Amino acid sequence: MTAAEKLIAAASAARENAHAPYSNFRVGAALRARSGRVITGCNVENASYGLTVCAERVALLKALSEGERGFEAIAVVADTERLTPPCGACRQLLWEFCGDIEVIAANLRGDTKTFRLAELFPEPFDASFL
Ligand code: THU
Repeated sequence: MTAAEKLIAAASAARENAHAPYSNFRVGAALRARSGRVITGCNVENASYGLTVCAERVALLKALSEGERGFEAIAVVADTERLTPPCGACRQLLWEFCGDIEVIAANLRGDTKTFRLAELFPEPFDASFL
């Protein structure tokens, strides 16, 4: 298994834990830290819809809270024909903590597409403006 395949497999497994009773749109994410650790997340929805947290941000915040710094790649898995990329809010957070990492979008049929975050999130606002 390649490193990308391992990350996709971890994201697929995390997707099983998705709490998505409102949208029924289940997402899993897996983030590979520079340390080599893989930290996973799934989307967690809430009856107050706006409080929903995406799989990518769950993975990122878990990783940060456990002391990880520096990240290499994130895989995002959803059951869609058109591969699901991170939403705008997640792109902003990923940029701040991961910079121009590899973003691997995958579905359950084995389709994958790899991006750099800089191509998904051009002209970012970041701390350099402050
Ligand atoms: N969602 C994610 O977890 N990641 C994405 O990249 C796209 C959207 C979640 C949020 C919500 O629970 C559901 O998918 C529908 O938007």
